[in-house]
Amino acid sequence: MSGFSAITGWGKYVPEKVLTNQDFERMVDTSDEWITDRTGIKERHIAGPGESASTLSIAAARQALDRSGIAPEDLGLIIVATVCADYPFPSTANLVQNALGARCGAFDMQAACSGFLYSLSIAHQFVSTGAAKHVLVIGVEVLSRVVDYTDRSTCVLFGDGAGAVILSASDEPGGMLGFTLGSDGANPERLWIPVGGSASPITVEDIRERRQYVRMQGNEVYRFATRIMGTAMEEALANAGMTAAEMDLFIPHQANLRIIEVAAKRLNLPPEKVFVNLEKYGNTSAAAIPIALCEAIDQGRVFPGAHLGLVAFGAGLTWAAAVVKWTAVVAPRADRTEEGSALGRAEPLSVR
Ligand code: UT7
Repeated sequence: MSGFSAITGWGKYVPEKVLTNQDFERMVDTSDEWITDRTGIKERHIAGPGESASTLSIAAARQALDRSGIAPEDLGLIIVATVCADYPFPSTANLVQNALGARCGAFDMQAACSGFLYSLSIAHQFVSTGAAKHVLVIGVEVLSRVVDYTDRSTCVLFGDGAGAVILSASDEPGGMLGFTLGSDGANPERLWIPVGGSASPITVEDIRERRQYVRMQGNEVYRFATRIMGTAMEEALANAGMTAAEMDLFIPHQANLRIIEVAAKRLNLPPEKVFVNLEKYGNTSAAAIPIALCEAIDQGRVFPGAHLGLVAFGAGLTWAAAVVKWTAVVAPRADRTEEGSALGRAEPLSVR
C-alpha cells in the first residue's frame, strides 16, 4: 500500500542565551562588519548549563505534538537528526522517547546539516508504506559544546536549537512529493571533528591541540555548497515532476547568506520566495530547516497547497533536498501573543 504523508505538527526551541557579533568582538579578533558581510549572521542562541540535545528536542517535540493533537503513544517512530547527541550511546532519540511517554522505536540519524532532510525522507518511507501512522522527526544541535571559541573562522558561525515536525499518513495528495539524498565522503577533513571517535580515541595531546573541536576548510565547503544547493534542489523538483518556478517558498539550509543568494539566483527565484532567518540563529546544522519552517509558518508564508523547496548541505560531505506540498491548515489561537506566535501554541490542525 502506498499513501501520502502530511506534516501535521511543528515546533521549535532555542535556548535563551544569545551571543551577538559584538560579544565575539570581545572574544576573538573579528568584527560585526566582517561577520555580517561574509555570512549575514548577527546573533546565535547558546545552550545553558543543564541543556542538551535531548532537552532542546523534548521542548520542540512537545510543541509539535501539541499542535498536531497527536498523543505521544500514537507515534510510530522517532528520528533525531544530530551531530551533538547527549552521549555516544544511548541515542538521543531514546531519551526523547522516554521523556515524551512514547512507546515506539527511536533512533538517531547522522548526516550533519543534511540530517533533518535525510530523516524526513526516512519518515516518509514509513508513513507512505503504512509502516507507521505518525513519525516524529527532530533536527537538533548543541554545537556550542563542540565549537572552538578561540577559532574565529568557525566560532562565529554556529548556534544551538531544535526543530521538530510530525509526519502523518494521509489520503490527500501532498506531503513529500520528491526528494534526493547525496554523499561524497572523499575528504572528510573539509568539515569534521578529528578525534573522539573509534578512529582516533581522544588523547591528552589532542586536547592540548584542541582537536576535539570542529575544524573546517571554509572555502572548500563554500565552493561545494554553492554548487550543490541548486543542483540538489533541481533534482528533487524533477523527482516531484516540478520546476523551480512552481515553488512557492524556498527554505534552504541557513549557513551563509551568500550561499543562499547563489542558490536562489541559480533557481531564478525572487527574494520574496526565499526564506532567511540565519541573522538570528547562525548555522544550527540539522535544526536549521525545521526552525526556519516553523518561522515561515508563523509569518504566514506557508499556506495550504503551497509547494516548499527544502535543501541542505553539510559535513561528509552530504546533501539532501525535498519538495513538500503543504496540506495542514494553520489556525492561530485567539489568545496568541507576539511571544506565542514564535514559541507558543496554535490550535490543533485539521489536515485537508
Ligand atoms: O553547514 C555547513 C557549514 N559550513 C559552511 O557553510 C561554511 C561555508 N563557508 C563559508 O561560509 C565561508 O567560507 C566563511 C564564512 C567560513 C569564510 O568566508 P570567506 O569569505 O570564505 O573568508 P576566507 O575563509 O577566505 O577568509 C578571508 C579572511 C582570512 O584572512 P586573510 O587570510 O585574508 O588575511 C581569514 O583569516 O578572513 C579572515 N577571517 C576572519 N576575519 C575576521 C576568517 N574568519 C574571520 C572572522 N573575523 N571571524
